[in-house]
Amino acid sequence: HTLQPLIAALPKCEHHMHVEGSLSPELLFELAERNGVTLPVAEDASFASVEALYARYSRFTSLDDFLHYYYIGMSVLQTAADFEALAMAYFEKAHAANVRHAEIFFDPQVHLARGVSLADVVRGLRAASRRATAELGGMTSLLIPCLLRHLPVDDSGKLVAQLREGYWADGDEVVQEETVVQALEEAFDGQEDENSLRGALAGLGLCSSERDLPPTLWRDVFREARRHSVASAPSADSSKASLKARRGATRITAHAGEEGPADYITLALDDLGAQRIDHGIAAATDPAVMARLAKEQIMLTLCPLSNVCLRAAKSIADVPIRTFLDAGVPFSINSDDPAYFGGYIQENYNAVQEAHNLSADDWATIVRNAVRGSWCDDARKQVML
Ligand code: ADE
Ligand code: ZN
Repeated sequence: HTLQPLIAALPKCEHHMHVEGSLSPELLFELAERNGVTLPVAEDASFASVEALYARYSRFTSLDDFLHYYYIGMSVLQTAADFEALAMAYFEKAHAANVRHAEIFFDPQVHLARGVSLADVVRGLRAASRRATAELGGMTSLLIPCLLRHLPVDDSGKLVAQLREGYWADGDEVVQEETVVQALEEAFDGQEDENSLRGALAGLGLCSSERDLPPTLWRDVFREARRHSVASAPSADSSKASLKARRGATRITAHAGEEGPADYITLALDDLGAQRIDHGIAAATDPAVMARLAKEQIMLTLCPLSNVCLRAAKSIADVPIRTFLDAGVPFSINSDDPAYFGGYIQENYNAVQEAHNLSADDWATIVRNAVRGSWCDDARKQVML
Protein backbone atom coordinates (compact mmCIF):
# COMPACT_ATOMS: atom_id res chain seq x y z
CA HIS A 1 0.00 0.00 0.00
CA THR A 2 2.35 2.67 -1.29
CA LEU A 3 -0.33 5.36 -0.94
CA GLN A 4 -0.61 4.97 2.85
CA PRO A 5 1.65 7.95 3.74
CA LEU A 6 -0.21 10.11 1.19
CA ILE A 7 -3.55 9.10 2.69
CA ALA A 8 -2.39 9.99 6.20
CA ALA A 9 -1.20 13.38 4.96
CA LEU A 10 -4.37 14.26 3.02
CA PRO A 11 -6.07 17.40 4.37
CA LYS A 12 -9.41 16.04 5.58
CA CYS A 13 -12.91 17.32 6.24
CA GLU A 14 -15.20 15.27 8.46
CA HIS A 15 -18.98 15.75 8.13
CA HIS A 16 -20.47 12.79 9.93
CA MET A 17 -19.33 12.33 13.51
CA HIS A 18 -21.82 12.22 16.38
CA VAL A 19 -19.92 13.75 19.26
CA GLU A 20 -21.70 11.46 21.73
CA GLY A 21 -20.36 8.59 19.61
CA SER A 22 -16.80 9.66 20.40
CA LEU A 23 -17.35 8.81 24.10
CA SER A 24 -14.84 6.07 24.85
CA PRO A 25 -15.62 3.42 27.49
CA GLU A 26 -12.73 4.89 29.54
CA LEU A 27 -14.26 8.39 29.57
CA LEU A 28 -17.74 6.91 30.01
CA PHE A 29 -16.74 5.21 33.29
CA GLU A 30 -14.76 8.25 34.45
CA LEU A 31 -17.73 10.61 33.94
CA ALA A 32 -20.22 8.11 35.44
CA GLU A 33 -18.10 8.09 38.59
CA ARG A 34 -17.59 11.85 38.69
CA ASN A 35 -21.25 12.67 38.01
CA GLY A 36 -22.75 9.92 40.18
CA VAL A 37 -24.53 8.27 37.25
CA THR A 38 -25.50 4.64 37.86
CA LEU A 39 -24.93 2.39 34.85
CA PRO A 40 -27.41 -0.51 34.38
CA VAL A 41 -24.93 -3.23 35.45
CA ALA A 42 -27.65 -5.34 37.03
CA GLU A 43 -29.51 -5.67 33.70
CA ASP A 44 -26.46 -5.86 31.49
CA ALA A 45 -23.07 -7.18 32.61
CA SER A 46 -21.46 -5.36 29.66
CA PHE A 47 -21.43 -2.30 31.92
CA ALA A 48 -19.27 -4.10 34.51
CA SER A 49 -15.95 -2.92 33.05
CA VAL A 50 -14.21 -1.06 30.24
CA GLU A 51 -13.12 -4.40 28.76
CA ALA A 52 -16.62 -5.92 28.88
CA LEU A 53 -18.05 -2.84 27.20
CA TYR A 54 -15.45 -2.92 24.40
CA ALA A 55 -16.24 -6.61 23.95
CA ARG A 56 -19.95 -5.84 23.58
CA TYR A 57 -19.20 -3.04 21.09
CA SER A 58 -17.44 -5.57 18.88
CA ARG A 59 -20.67 -7.58 18.44
CA PHE A 60 -23.36 -5.12 17.37
CA THR A 61 -26.04 -6.80 15.28
CA SER A 62 -27.89 -3.74 13.91
CA LEU A 63 -28.30 0.02 14.12
CA ASP A 64 -30.82 -0.32 16.96
CA ASP A 65 -28.59 -2.72 18.89
CA PHE A 66 -25.85 -0.05 18.78
CA LEU A 67 -28.22 2.83 19.56
CA HIS A 68 -29.30 1.11 22.79
CA TYR A 69 -25.71 1.38 24.11
CA TYR A 70 -25.12 4.80 22.59
CA TYR A 71 -28.09 6.38 24.39
CA ILE A 72 -27.18 4.79 27.73
CA GLY A 73 -23.56 5.89 27.28
CA MET A 74 -24.41 9.55 26.77
CA SER A 75 -26.30 9.66 30.09
CA VAL A 76 -22.95 10.30 31.82
CA LEU A 77 -22.61 13.69 30.05
CA GLN A 78 -23.97 16.26 32.48
CA THR A 79 -22.12 19.56 32.38
CA ALA A 80 -20.78 21.98 29.79
CA ALA A 81 -17.30 20.88 30.90
CA ASP A 82 -18.16 17.24 30.06
CA PHE A 83 -19.18 18.22 26.53
CA GLU A 84 -16.06 20.35 26.16
CA ALA A 85 -13.79 17.49 27.28
CA LEU A 86 -15.58 15.07 24.97
CA ALA A 87 -15.32 17.31 21.91
CA MET A 88 -11.74 18.32 22.68
CA ALA A 89 -10.64 14.68 22.84
CA TYR A 90 -12.24 14.19 19.42
CA PHE A 91 -10.60 17.31 17.94
CA GLU A 92 -7.18 16.13 19.11
CA LYS A 93 -7.66 12.76 17.41
CA ALA A 94 -8.98 14.48 14.28
CA HIS A 95 -6.04 16.88 14.21
CA ALA A 96 -3.61 13.96 14.37
CA ALA A 97 -5.31 12.63 11.19
CA ASN A 98 -4.97 16.01 9.44
CA VAL A 99 -8.62 16.98 9.74
CA ARG A 100 -8.83 20.68 8.83
CA HIS A 101 -12.55 21.12 9.16
CA ALA A 102 -15.10 19.09 11.14
CA GLU A 103 -18.89 19.28 11.28
CA ILE A 104 -20.11 17.75 14.49
CA PHE A 105 -23.51 16.17 15.08
CA PHE A 106 -25.13 16.19 18.49
CA ASP A 107 -28.48 14.95 19.87
CA PRO A 108 -30.18 17.77 21.85
CA GLN A 109 -33.45 15.91 22.49
CA VAL A 110 -31.79 13.22 24.60
CA HIS A 111 -29.88 15.76 26.67
CA LEU A 112 -32.96 17.95 27.19
CA ALA A 113 -34.93 14.88 28.31
CA ARG A 114 -32.24 14.26 30.98
CA GLY A 115 -32.48 17.83 32.22
CA VAL A 116 -29.28 19.08 30.57
CA SER A 117 -29.92 22.46 28.95
CA LEU A 118 -29.24 23.23 25.32
CA ALA A 119 -27.15 26.19 26.47
CA ASP A 120 -24.83 23.91 28.48
CA VAL A 121 -24.40 21.49 25.59
CA VAL A 122 -23.73 24.25 23.05
CA ARG A 123 -21.49 26.19 25.42
CA GLY A 124 -19.30 23.14 26.04
CA LEU A 125 -19.10 22.19 22.37
CA ARG A 126 -18.37 25.77 21.29
CA ALA A 127 -15.64 26.15 23.89
CA ALA A 128 -13.93 23.06 22.48
CA SER A 129 -14.44 24.32 18.94
CA ARG A 130 -12.73 27.64 19.76
CA ARG A 131 -9.88 25.89 21.53
CA ALA A 132 -9.40 23.58 18.56
CA THR A 133 -9.02 26.58 16.24
CA ALA A 134 -6.55 28.24 18.60
CA GLU A 135 -4.54 25.18 19.64
CA LEU A 136 -4.81 22.75 16.72
CA GLY A 137 -3.48 24.55 13.69
CA GLY A 138 -6.55 26.61 12.89
CA MET A 139 -8.87 23.63 12.59
CA THR A 140 -12.44 24.87 12.05
CA SER A 141 -15.64 23.19 13.18
CA LEU A 142 -19.40 23.62 12.99
CA LEU A 143 -22.24 22.19 15.06
CA ILE A 144 -25.28 20.39 13.64
CA PRO A 145 -28.08 19.33 15.99
CA CYS A 146 -29.94 16.20 14.85
CA LEU A 147 -33.61 15.40 15.25
CA LEU A 148 -34.19 11.85 16.49
CA ARG A 149 -36.42 9.37 14.72
CA HIS A 150 -36.90 6.94 17.62
CA LEU A 151 -38.80 9.65 19.55
CA PRO A 152 -42.27 10.95 18.60
CA VAL A 153 -42.28 13.45 15.72
CA ASP A 154 -43.80 15.94 18.11
CA ASP A 155 -40.65 15.84 20.25
CA SER A 156 -38.66 16.99 17.19
CA GLY A 157 -41.24 19.73 16.69
CA LYS A 158 -40.67 20.96 20.22
CA LEU A 159 -36.91 21.16 19.70
CA VAL A 160 -37.37 23.11 16.48
CA ALA A 161 -39.69 25.51 18.30
CA GLN A 162 -37.06 25.97 20.99
CA LEU A 163 -34.30 26.55 18.45
CA ARG A 164 -36.54 28.95 16.57
CA GLU A 165 -36.89 31.22 19.57
CA GLY A 166 -33.18 31.76 19.48
CA TYR A 167 -32.95 32.63 15.84
CA TRP A 168 -35.54 34.14 13.52
CA ALA A 169 -39.21 34.84 13.93
CA ASP A 170 -41.81 35.62 11.31
CA GLY A 171 -41.24 38.85 9.47
CA ASP A 172 -37.93 40.57 9.07
CA GLU A 173 -37.08 41.28 12.66
CA VAL A 174 -34.60 39.29 14.63
CA VAL A 175 -36.19 37.87 17.75
CA GLN A 176 -34.48 39.10 20.87
CA GLU A 177 -34.77 38.22 24.49
CA GLU A 178 -36.53 34.92 24.32
CA THR A 179 -35.51 32.40 26.93
CA VAL A 180 -33.20 30.42 24.71
CA VAL A 181 -31.50 33.55 23.40
CA GLN A 182 -30.89 34.72 26.93
CA ALA A 183 -29.57 31.36 28.02
CA LEU A 184 -27.24 31.15 25.05
CA GLU A 185 -26.04 34.70 25.49
CA GLU A 186 -25.20 33.97 29.09
CA ALA A 187 -23.46 30.82 27.97
CA PHE A 188 -21.29 32.83 25.63
CA ASP A 189 -20.19 35.22 28.40
CA GLY A 190 -21.11 38.17 26.27
CA GLN A 191 -18.05 37.46 24.12
CA GLU A 192 -20.02 36.73 21.00
CA ASP A 193 -21.74 39.44 19.07
CA GLU A 194 -25.43 39.20 18.39
CA ASN A 195 -24.92 37.68 14.98
CA SER A 196 -22.49 34.95 15.84
CA LEU A 197 -25.10 33.64 18.24
CA ARG A 198 -27.16 32.97 15.17
CA GLY A 199 -24.19 31.20 13.60
CA ALA A 200 -23.85 28.71 16.47
CA LEU A 201 -25.64 26.02 14.51
CA ALA A 202 -24.69 25.36 10.90
CA GLY A 203 -27.59 23.17 9.89
CA LEU A 204 -30.11 20.61 11.03
CA GLY A 205 -29.81 16.81 10.81
CA LEU A 206 -32.00 13.73 11.22
CA CYS A 207 -30.74 10.46 12.68
CA SER A 208 -31.39 7.46 14.97
CA SER A 209 -33.48 4.38 14.07
CA GLU A 210 -34.36 4.17 10.38
CA ARG A 211 -36.40 1.02 9.69
CA ASP A 212 -40.08 1.79 9.02
CA LEU A 213 -39.54 5.49 9.77
CA PRO A 214 -39.70 7.24 6.36
CA PRO A 215 -38.36 10.83 6.26
CA THR A 216 -41.82 12.03 5.22
CA LEU A 217 -42.98 11.73 8.84
CA TRP A 218 -40.71 14.75 9.59
CA ARG A 219 -41.78 16.83 6.59
CA ASP A 220 -43.71 19.46 8.53
CA VAL A 221 -41.05 19.75 11.21
CA PHE A 222 -38.34 20.41 8.63
CA ARG A 223 -40.60 22.82 6.78
CA GLU A 224 -40.91 24.83 9.99
CA ALA A 225 -37.17 24.67 10.53
CA ARG A 226 -36.49 25.92 6.99
CA ARG A 227 -39.13 28.62 7.15
CA HIS A 228 -37.69 30.05 10.34
CA SER A 229 -34.06 29.40 9.52
CA VAL A 230 -33.37 27.73 12.87
CA ALA A 231 -29.83 27.02 11.81
CA SER A 232 -28.38 29.70 9.58
CA ALA A 233 -25.63 29.09 7.13
CA PRO A 234 -22.44 30.59 8.54
CA SER A 235 -20.94 33.50 6.68
CA ALA A 236 -18.11 35.92 7.23
CA ASP A 237 -20.66 38.63 6.45
CA SER A 238 -22.78 39.05 9.58
CA SER A 239 -24.51 42.25 8.51
CA LYS A 240 -28.23 42.45 8.98
CA ALA A 241 -28.72 42.50 5.20
CA SER A 242 -26.73 39.30 4.83
CA LEU A 243 -28.64 37.57 7.63
CA LYS A 244 -31.86 38.60 5.94
CA ALA A 245 -30.69 37.24 2.60
CA ARG A 246 -29.88 33.92 4.25
CA ARG A 247 -33.29 33.66 5.85
CA GLY A 248 -34.79 30.33 4.91
CA ALA A 249 -31.33 29.04 4.14
CA THR A 250 -31.28 26.40 6.88
CA ARG A 251 -29.03 23.62 5.71
CA ILE A 252 -30.43 20.17 6.10
CA THR A 253 -28.85 16.75 6.14
CA ALA A 254 -30.53 13.45 6.91
CA HIS A 255 -29.41 9.92 7.64
CA ALA A 256 -31.06 7.90 4.85
CA GLY A 257 -30.33 4.63 3.09
CA GLU A 258 -28.20 3.28 5.94
CA GLU A 259 -30.49 0.38 6.91
CA GLY A 260 -33.45 1.78 4.99
CA PRO A 261 -34.22 1.61 1.25
CA ALA A 262 -33.04 3.92 -1.55
CA ASP A 263 -36.53 5.47 -1.60
CA TYR A 264 -35.80 7.08 1.76
CA ILE A 265 -32.98 9.05 0.11
CA THR A 266 -35.42 10.46 -2.44
CA LEU A 267 -37.89 11.29 0.33
CA ALA A 268 -35.19 13.04 2.39
CA LEU A 269 -34.36 15.21 -0.64
CA ASP A 270 -37.94 15.94 -1.70
CA ASP A 271 -39.83 16.06 1.59
CA LEU A 272 -37.19 17.45 3.95
CA GLY A 273 -35.14 19.58 1.57
CA ALA A 274 -31.93 17.73 2.48
CA GLN A 275 -28.80 19.04 0.75
CA ARG A 276 -26.62 16.18 1.92
CA ILE A 277 -27.37 12.55 2.75
CA ASP A 278 -25.71 10.74 5.65
CA HIS A 279 -24.69 7.19 4.69
CA GLY A 280 -26.90 6.79 1.61
CA ILE A 281 -25.28 3.48 0.65
CA ALA A 282 -28.66 2.12 -0.49
CA ALA A 283 -28.43 4.58 -3.43
CA ALA A 284 -26.20 2.06 -5.19
CA THR A 285 -29.21 -0.27 -5.55
CA ASP A 286 -31.22 2.28 -7.56
CA PRO A 287 -29.91 3.72 -10.85
CA ALA A 288 -32.43 6.58 -10.82
CA VAL A 289 -31.31 7.69 -7.36
CA MET A 290 -27.66 7.42 -8.44
CA ALA A 291 -28.33 9.57 -11.51
CA ARG A 292 -30.03 12.21 -9.42
CA LEU A 293 -27.27 12.36 -6.79
CA ALA A 294 -24.69 12.78 -9.55
CA LYS A 295 -26.71 15.38 -11.46
CA GLU A 296 -27.50 17.48 -8.39
CA GLN A 297 -24.09 16.81 -6.82
CA ILE A 298 -25.63 15.75 -3.52
CA MET A 299 -22.81 14.67 -1.21
CA LEU A 300 -23.09 11.40 0.71
CA THR A 301 -21.27 11.25 4.03
CA LEU A 302 -20.08 7.63 4.03
CA CYS A 303 -19.00 5.78 7.18
CA PRO A 304 -17.44 2.47 6.08
CA LEU A 305 -16.41 1.02 9.48
CA SER A 306 -19.84 1.89 10.88
CA ASN A 307 -21.58 0.07 8.02
CA VAL A 308 -19.63 -3.11 8.71
CA CYS A 309 -20.07 -2.90 12.52
CA LEU A 310 -23.83 -2.38 12.22
CA ARG A 311 -24.17 -4.93 9.40
CA ALA A 312 -25.41 -2.43 6.84
CA ALA A 313 -22.59 -3.81 4.65
CA LYS A 314 -20.96 -7.27 4.77
CA SER A 315 -17.46 -5.85 4.42
CA ILE A 316 -15.64 -2.63 3.50
CA ALA A 317 -15.31 -4.08 -0.02
CA ASP A 318 -19.13 -4.14 -0.16
CA VAL A 319 -19.42 -0.42 0.63
CA PRO A 320 -20.05 0.89 -2.93
CA ILE A 321 -17.10 3.28 -3.06
CA ARG A 322 -16.12 2.40 -6.65
CA THR A 323 -19.75 2.63 -7.80
CA PHE A 324 -20.06 6.16 -6.41
CA LEU A 325 -16.72 7.26 -7.86
CA ASP A 326 -17.55 5.89 -11.31
CA ALA A 327 -21.01 7.48 -11.29
CA GLY A 328 -19.71 10.89 -10.20
CA VAL A 329 -21.65 10.82 -6.92
CA PRO A 330 -19.70 13.00 -4.46
CA PHE A 331 -18.96 11.60 -1.01
CA SER A 332 -16.81 12.12 2.04
CA ILE A 333 -15.42 9.40 4.32
CA ASN A 334 -16.24 9.70 8.01
CA SER A 335 -16.16 7.92 11.35
CA ASP A 336 -19.83 8.20 12.53
CA ASP A 337 -19.35 6.98 16.13
CA PRO A 338 -15.61 6.38 16.36
CA ALA A 339 -15.51 5.17 19.98
CA TYR A 340 -18.07 2.48 19.19
CA PHE A 341 -16.89 1.27 15.78
CA GLY A 342 -13.19 0.76 16.37
CA GLY A 343 -11.77 3.64 14.39
CA TYR A 344 -11.54 7.37 13.77
CA ILE A 345 -11.38 9.02 10.35
CA GLN A 346 -7.85 7.78 9.55
CA GLU A 347 -8.83 4.16 10.15
CA ASN A 348 -11.82 4.68 7.84
CA TYR A 349 -9.60 6.10 5.08
CA ASN A 350 -7.12 3.23 5.58
CA ALA A 351 -9.85 0.59 5.47
CA VAL A 352 -11.19 2.04 2.21
CA GLN A 353 -7.74 2.01 0.64
CA GLU A 354 -7.05 -1.53 1.75
CA ALA A 355 -10.34 -2.86 0.35
CA HIS A 356 -10.69 -0.69 -2.76
CA ASN A 357 -7.10 0.09 -3.78
CA LEU A 358 -7.91 3.60 -5.00
CA SER A 359 -5.57 5.71 -7.12
CA ALA A 360 -4.03 9.05 -6.14
CA ASP A 361 -6.53 10.65 -8.54
CA ASP A 362 -9.44 8.97 -6.77
CA TRP A 363 -8.20 10.36 -3.46
CA ALA A 364 -7.84 13.82 -4.96
CA THR A 365 -11.48 13.61 -6.06
CA ILE A 366 -12.61 12.47 -2.61
CA VAL A 367 -10.70 15.22 -0.81
CA ARG A 368 -11.90 17.93 -3.22
CA ASN A 369 -15.54 16.79 -2.95
CA ALA A 370 -15.28 16.76 0.85
CA VAL A 371 -14.20 20.41 0.84
CA ARG A 372 -16.90 21.38 -1.69
CA GLY A 373 -19.61 19.63 0.30
CA SER A 374 -18.63 21.33 3.56
CA TRP A 375 -20.85 23.99 5.11
CA CYS A 376 -18.11 26.43 6.03
CA ASP A 377 -18.02 29.69 4.08
CA ASP A 378 -16.39 30.00 0.67
CA ALA A 379 -13.31 31.79 2.00
CA ARG A 380 -12.54 28.82 4.25
CA LYS A 381 -13.11 26.39 1.38
CA GLN A 382 -10.70 28.35 -0.83
CA VAL A 383 -7.98 27.93 1.77
CA MET A 384 -8.55 24.18 1.87
CA LEU A 385 -8.86 23.56 -1.88
N1 ADE B 1 -26.85 8.17 15.68
C1 ADE B 1 -25.55 7.94 15.94
N2 ADE B 1 -25.02 7.15 15.00
C2 ADE B 1 -26.01 6.87 14.11
C3 ADE B 1 -26.09 6.11 12.92
N3 ADE B 1 -25.05 5.44 12.42
N4 ADE B 1 -27.27 6.05 12.29
C4 ADE B 1 -28.33 6.68 12.78
N5 ADE B 1 -28.31 7.40 13.88
C5 ADE B 1 -27.16 7.51 14.56
ZN1 ZN C 1 -24.53 8.79 11.86
